[in-house]
Amino acid sequence: MPRHLLTGEELTGEEVIALVDRALELKAAPLSSRALDGKSVALMFERPSTRTRVSFEVGVVELGGHPVVLGADELQISRGESLADTGRVLAGHVSAVGLRTGADERLEELASESSVPVFNMLTAGHHPCQALADLVTLKETFGRLEGLKLVYVGDGNNVARSLAVVGGLAGVDVVIASPEGFAIDPVGGATLTDDPIEAVAGADAIYTDVWVSMGDEETAAERRAALGPYRIDDALLDLAQPEAVALHCLPAHPGEEITPEVLYGERQRIWDQAENRRHAQKAMLELLCGAA
Ligand code: CP
Repeated sequence: MPRHLLTGEELTGEEVIALVDRALELKAAPLSSRALDGKSVALMFERPSTRTRVSFEVGVVELGGHPVVLGADELQISRGESLADTGRVLAGHVSAVGLRTGADERLEELASESSVPVFNMLTAGHHPCQALADLVTLKETFGRLEGLKLVYVGDGNNVARSLAVVGGLAGVDVVIASPEGFAIDPVGGATLTDDPIEAVAGADAIYTDVWVSMGDEETAAERRAALGPYRIDDALLDLAQPEAVALHCLPAHPGEEITPEVLYGERQRIWDQAENRRHAQKAMLELLCGAA
């Protein structure tokens, strides 16, 4: 059976910590690994992407591999071929397959018939590669993960869920503050609350994401009304630890979930997070493809 990365729950705590350390090694020496020498990796996108697409495509090349980037519109999936059959075919050519899609069931269908590793490049429920990159950013900033307090404020979405799962595995104290109706179900040992002010006390990092994610456009007005008190601004950061940093998975809507002063200011590590996607994913590909 191949190893898949669908939710992050497939990893042990030791593996998450090792992946973070390996990512930082790869960041220091980006061309030091040839783990994908002579191998190809399929990257399938059924939803738009900037960071995930570029970081995976460049990361595969840096590992000596060949990325095959596939848009859903150009595949026979668009004419009704199943994901399971697509997975069977891809496995005859490539060493791993990534998918960005909507329903988690589509990723599970792909993985169910794939004889090569399948990894999640974002689904409605999970974004584990983002969470791994976020842990890399925390380790890079604070020199440790164990015992850090990471507070996510805002929409209880795929990013919040993956932070709870993957952060919890690494020993991070994850708190998710979301308004009623926008909370995640309990997962990964995270503390759930609806009070952002109380939540950020003692925080080492405060994290947010857009209020209207892909697929949520119909409820945009309701979301903006409910999530207004969960914006990251300097006043919220002032309630956290003196050295606390702001995080955001991007893309951002400056002035909505985060102020421009924070997004482009001195108290954020957001642009490092975006770069760390590549290093974290390279470490993950080494693990899934058997080179680690
Ligand atoms: N954070 C993230 O997944 O960015 P993209 O949607 O641009 O890939």
